[in-house]
Amino acid sequence: MSAALEVSDLSGSYGQGNVLYNMNFTVEQGGITALLGANGAGKTTTLRAIYNLLPQRTGDVRLFGSSTERKPAEAVARMGVGHVPDGRGTFDSLTVEENLILGAYGRRDKSAVRDDMKRMFGYFPRLQERFTQQAGTLSGGEQQMLAIARALIGRPKLLILDEPSFGLAPVVVQEIFSIIRLINTQEGVAVLLVEQNAGMAFALADQAFVMETGRIVVSGKSADVAANEEVRRAYLGI
Ligand SMILES: Nc1ncnc2c1ncn2[C@@H]1O[C@H](COP(=O)(O)OP(=O)(O)OP(=O)(O)O)[C@@H](O)[C@H]1O
Ligand SMILES: [Mg+2]
Repeated sequence: MSAALEVSDLSGSYGQGNVLYNMNFTVEQGGITALLGANGAGKTTTLRAIYNLLPQRTGDVRLFGSSTERKPAEAVARMGVGHVPDGRGTFDSLTVEENLILGAYGRRDKSAVRDDMKRMFGYFPRLQERFTQQAGTLSGGEQQMLAIARALIGRPKLLILDEPSFGLAPVVVQEIFSIIRLINTQEGVAVLLVEQNAGMAFALADQAFVMETGRIVVSGKSADVAANEEVRRAYLGI
């Protein structure tokens, strides 16, 4: 079985000088891989490269065995990817319902979209309670839940999250990460989790890798990466 995401020898730049250097990693189907790194390490740039949004990119990116070569970002997304951007990207002035409808943009099976919304409310009951509320008036945690539910409405087979814990209290992060695990096990959705919150990410992921200035410096099974001396010092403060 091919991997959900296979990145081989990926390098990239915004124009002057490389920002990504020869990166190799995979997210197995049904698996959870954590991409860790400090501010400016190149995490979001890696995601841009996956969507072909970098001006220059070399290497090979495969989704479920198919190359993304020369495909525009929206075509890459249609290969089965749900994206939760950094900063959530929900529309503040729209209601929860309207945000979710936008997640289903392009789908023709409207009754199935309603069923998917109900399914999402199973995971995020608070969104159902706030169905008609404007997204901008939700708490940070609820906005993150909405962003995840919106990404899942498109029925992706791979969910990519860019720093979902950012700005949230540990107890809220715990809640959101448990829901991500539940979705991963119940729906078989593979997850690429970009995080700075290494402790929580290690607990959720089966594979992990750490980036520094555009390079992967440590990678392997999550438990092994978490046990690495340098990683413990730099990311876990131990
Ligand atoms: N649009 C851009 N044009 C030029 N350089 C950029 C651009 N966006 C990011 N960079 C540079 O690329 C490097 C990696 O940035 P990136 O946003 O990928 O880091 P990150 O790991 O996602 O950090 P953070 O945790 O702060 O989100 C940084 O040096 C940054 O200044
Ligand atoms: Mg980033």
